[in-house]
Amino acid sequence: MTEEIVKSALSKVMYPGFTKDIVTFGFVKDIAINGNDVSVTVEITSSAPEVAAQIVDEAEKELKNVGAGKVTVNIKAPQMPKESSSQGKNIAPQIKNFLMVSSGKGGVGKSTTAVNIAIALAQQGKKVGLLDADIYGPNIPRMLGISDQKPEVTGNKVLPMKAYGIEVMSMGSLMEEGQSLIWRGAMIMKAIEQFLRDILWSELDLLVIDMPPGTGDAQLSLAQAVPVTAGLTVTTPQSVSLDDSRRSLDMFKKLNIPIAGIVENMSGFIAPDTGVEYDIFGKGTSQPMADEFDTKIIAEVPIEPAIRTGGDEGKPIIFADPSSETAKRYMKAAESIWNTIEEINANGGVDNKSVQPTTPPGVSACSTGGSSSQQQSGGGCGCS
Ligand SMILES: Nc1ncnc2c1ncn2[C@@H]1O[C@H](COP(=O)(O)OP(=O)(O)O)[C@@H](O)[C@H]1O
Ligand SMILES: [Mg+2]
Repeated sequence: MTEEIVKSALSKVMYPGFTKDIVTFGFVKDIAINGNDVSVTVEITSSAPEVAAQIVDEAEKELKNVGAGKVTVNIKAPQMPKESSSQGKNIAPQIKNFLMVSSGKGGVGKSTTAVNIAIALAQQGKKVGLLDADIYGPNIPRMLGISDQKPEVTGNKVLPMKAYGIEVMSMGSLMEEGQSLIWRGAMIMKAIEQFLRDILWSELDLLVIDMPPGTGDAQLSLAQAVPVTAGLTVTTPQSVSLDDSRRSLDMFKKLNIPIAGIVENMSGFIAPDTGVEYDIFGKGTSQPMADEFDTKIIAEVPIEPAIRTGGDEGKPIIFADPSSETAKRYMKAAESIWNTIEEINANGGVDNKSVQPTTPPGVSACSTGGSSSQQQSGGGCGCS
């Protein structure tokens, strides 16, 4: 028996799941020959036991075929990651930062804010993606004028679409127009994971995520799937909206997500004809809430007809009218968010260890308890 013969036999052993063999991969580390007995060490990159077992089986078979006597195959594999709550999780590691945009309730301008902030950051030179994770009311495609586009599929991955210098994906682009889906807890988790894992996002500086309103399974699923760098809350100035927004800020706290600030939307009205600013819902009423959560109001965005028409026509104001007062406020808010993100990263960044499910391995935290009903399950998820 010679090393040559051993190597040529082992080059018939494919690495499971690939079309390349273990010799070509450089995984064969040690070959010891004693008469006709052969001992080899194979160092692999997978910790899955079935990968090791298949390599051992096939290596033994191929070596026996070339006349080896006693065959020993030692596998060196990395440690299996521990399925415990002490491990953080990131299923989209090519994305450097994640911004979760939340609101206590719908209709306050969360999507409008997400769109304009995302484009503002792209205009400031960042590589930005926008994920419309509002599975109940996905309207980002309309706001970006791409509602009649269908994303391109390659293999089992989907390419994000492009608009105004950002990458975009939305459940709205994956469903028929006007269709609605009934979401159960476990499905929400799966959808959020697929948005991150099966969409071919580039190496982004930031993914802005427009969440469904409220604090539910989607928010928890996102926080468990990737380390969310910062959270942004959008509110309107009325007290009733503030009550809901407080819940949204409290959720960031519970999920250990640093708060990037509050956007007070529909804060005053700028008359298009005279430019005079009127107070309608109240202005600056979010300040006590900002103080309470140790954060700041990063923009007061007035009610402005151009914001609404921009949204309806797929021409966001930040792009359509960059010299407007509103566009300038979005620009400043975007700068503030980016500064906060840099500060967070300079102080060691974030991880999501503390929000991982505490259920045993193999059991989905969001599939236990109550999810057999048609409603959002809410309960059973390991958020403490
Ligand atoms: N500051 C604003 N001025 C005028 N219209 C606005 C403003 N903010 C949002 N809108 C409009 O209000 C509606 C709801 O906003 P949207 O961003 O869809 O809210 P959400 O995502 O919170 O449900 C949209 O038609 C949008 O164009
Ligand atoms: Mg919305």
